[in-house]
Amino acid sequence: MRKIDVIVGARPNFMKAAALFVVAPDYPGLALRVIHTGQHYDVNMSHLFLQELGLPEPHRHLQVGSGSHAYQTATIMMRYEECVEEDRPGCCVVVGDVNSTVACALVASKLGIPVAHIEAGLRSFDRTMPEEINRVLTDSISDLMFVTESSGLENLKREGRPESGIHLVGNTMIDTLLRLLPKAEELAPWDRFAVRPDDYVYITLHRPSNVDEKTIAGEICEQIISIASRWPVVFLVHPRTRRRLDKYGLDRKLSEQPNLHLSEPLGYMDSLSLMRRAKLVITDSGGIQEESTILGIPCLTLRENTERPITVEQGTNTIIGRNWALLKSCLQQIEEGSYLKRASDIPLWDGNSGERILQILTDQL
Ligand code: UD1
Repeated sequence: MRKIDVIVGARPNFMKAAALFVVAPDYPGLALRVIHTGQHYDVNMSHLFLQELGLPEPHRHLQVGSGSHAYQTATIMMRYEECVEEDRPGCCVVVGDVNSTVACALVASKLGIPVAHIEAGLRSFDRTMPEEINRVLTDSISDLMFVTESSGLENLKREGRPESGIHLVGNTMIDTLLRLLPKAEELAPWDRFAVRPDDYVYITLHRPSNVDEKTIAGEICEQIISIASRWPVVFLVHPRTRRRLDKYGLDRKLSEQPNLHLSEPLGYMDSLSLMRRAKLVITDSGGIQEESTILGIPCLTLRENTERPITVEQGTNTIIGRNWALLKSCLQQIEEGSYLKRASDIPLWDGNSGERILQILTDQL
């Protein structure tokens, strides 16, 4: 039996990794185990997700916590190296683009352990984003690259990665969404905000480029307040964002708006249910651009670019950046019903990506 370390650390990793564990019993030659770096540690950023998604208890927890990029990456590396030296896996599977991803890939690669990267090849071409650096570095040392959309294939080929290691398998985050949507649809998370389904705006923001600087965060809050004068808003506030809003006094300003509900981050099921019945989504998250595309919910992305172009080409996503005229025009289209509002059928985003990945691992390791 081959031991496979599946690395998780930050919130968006859990749903992507969970898809492997669901199908793992069909692949008895692979012994999958969760290694949790502890990059995210709040109950509603981590533990709740493990429970809801049915991920097994972590085999090892590296307890890294928060810190600068260098501190976090280096500490994960040292702690994961110890783990690997004690109990060497036959493969290290990393997902997404967070610091935990690049840190563990680097450790495994230097110790001669094959690295498999789920969600390989995505590129925003914006090196000011820490995730872009993590993506490029991780792919350059991965042996197997599992790709979600065709842009990823082109990027990896252009970067000279060997074609034999590149596999278009679809999207494991969508596997989890399709698996849990029926259960999420039984919930009514909007009740706690006293808003009606299909009649509110779902907002999440956490990118340093949006929340770290006072003037930019303030400008975005003005837009949110203006939207709240039109429709009820539910804003799920990431811990990073919460700190900045507090620091800049923006939380008070937002809380004064009667139609604007600020909430702690929700668990996966409540958040999915809330997104499913939103009138529209405003976000800077990568994953939510994809989830809203599959759910057919209009998505306005407050970023200058996206590493997931298929969500714009085939889905409901528009890249707004801080072009407030464009935001206004999209809101108008949504109000009039002329904005695209249907689920997109993206090749291989069919709920079976986890299975494809374990089959390839079985065949190739
Ligand atoms: C990380 C990922 C980002 C991903 C995001 C999802 C990197 C470089 N960034 O960003 O790609 O989209 O996760 O959430 O890996 N904090 C808590 N509790 C927690 C976790 C964080 O309070 O459980 C606070 C801490 O103040 C911390 C800050 O949030 O310093 C940022 O956390 P960190 O993991 O460094 O980055 P994220 O912004 O969450």
